[in-house]
Amino acid sequence: MQIDIISVLPELLHSPLEHSIMKRAQTKGLLTVNLIDLREYGLGKHRQVDDYQFGGGAGMVMMVEPLAACIDRLQESTTYDEIIYLTPDGKTLNQGICNRLSLNNNLLLICGHYKGIDERIREHYVTMEISIGDYVLSGGELAAAVLVDSLGRLLPGVLNDETSALFDSFQDDLLAPPVYTRPAEFRGWKVPDILLSGNTPKIEDWRNDQAMERTRQRRPDLLGDED
Ligand code: ADE
Repeated sequence: MQIDIISVLPELLHSPLEHSIMKRAQTKGLLTVNLIDLREYGLGKHRQVDDYQFGGGAGMVMMVEPLAACIDRLQESTTYDEIIYLTPDGKTLNQGICNRLSLNNNLLLICGHYKGIDERIREHYVTMEISIGDYVLSGGELAAAVLVDSLGRLLPGVLNDETSALFDSFQDDLLAPPVYTRPAEFRGWKVPDILLSGNTPKIEDWRNDQAMERTRQRRPDLLGDED
């Protein structure tokens, strides 16, 4: 999968992409992330990328020309399955969206700043708008990092069996069951006997029950019950 990301602060994305599973996905050649600095398409000698909003009001808006020029250039060599704008008024990201998006080959992410991007880019280029939650970040970069991480780990071959994404919270609309590791007893706090029993089918049943109970208590909305 190739993910291209347009940003005015591409440095913000370096660290999240350079570690752990994201690094492994890229080293294995399963994921390519290209960071594109929008300033390279900025106007004039100051490489301007934002301007005051028409109609007045506080806050700058990311201009249509640099974004359009940047996207046009990228589209000369890549056909994108989706052009995604990260924005608090987009559709809230969930595991189902991640699963579907992970099946694509080429994604373009646009990170907004200030008051957001000129609406004409949303009308004429953007095919999908995603929010990572009901709160406002100072820019779309951290949201893009969240999206890339959640997609990268779903690509076949990125995770090994032990960390398989199939057992994640939300994968069956259920939260994950509790987990324990050594020691079996710490300060008198014991690991449930069943997990030490070696009885794999019983352990599986216990995990399913725990996942269901945890979901019922914490996120009944996932089961279609009331919030
Ligand atoms: N940009 C600013 N806030 C955001 C959010 N909550 N989700 C996605 N992009 C954003």
